[in-house]
Amino acid sequence: MMQRRKFLKTSCTVCVGTLAGITAISLLESCATGKIVKSEISNDTITIALSEFEQGKSYIIVRNSNLTYDILLNKINETSYKALLMQCTHYDNPVFANSKEIFCPSHGSKFDFNGNVKQEPATTSLKTYKTELKDQIITIFLK
Ligand code: FES
Repeated sequence: MMQRRKFLKTSCTVCVGTLAGITAISLLESCATGKIVKSEISNDTITIALSEFEQGKSYIIVRNSNLTYDILLNKINETSYKALLMQCTHYDNPVFANSKEIFCPSHGSKFDFNGNVKQEPATTSLKTYKTELKDQIITIFLK
């Protein structure tokens, strides 16, 4: 009898743990951002290998410890990329992205992947940086 009780207790613990893990993964996926790529800054530029874009992914998040905000690097097509500073233009809080849009959880502003305002209170587009694709390398010009 004790063995059965111990078995049930162990099984239930495993089930609850598994369910909690699945729930956590689902929550993470629902607010997932793109792949985060750590980068170096050299001569006011950041270079990212084109191979960082995984199959079917339309954007990556570029991170550097010297930058206050991440940069969202959006693939417009095979030869064109757009770099957006992930700083909300309302009150400067960080913005996040999902598969549909860029959003600010602070007061609800939303932006499209060109940085244009989709929903106020922000009224100004996200800051953009010039980019260049050459030899399988994307260069982001910070100045
Ligand atoms: S700081 Fe982003 S909506 Fe207010």
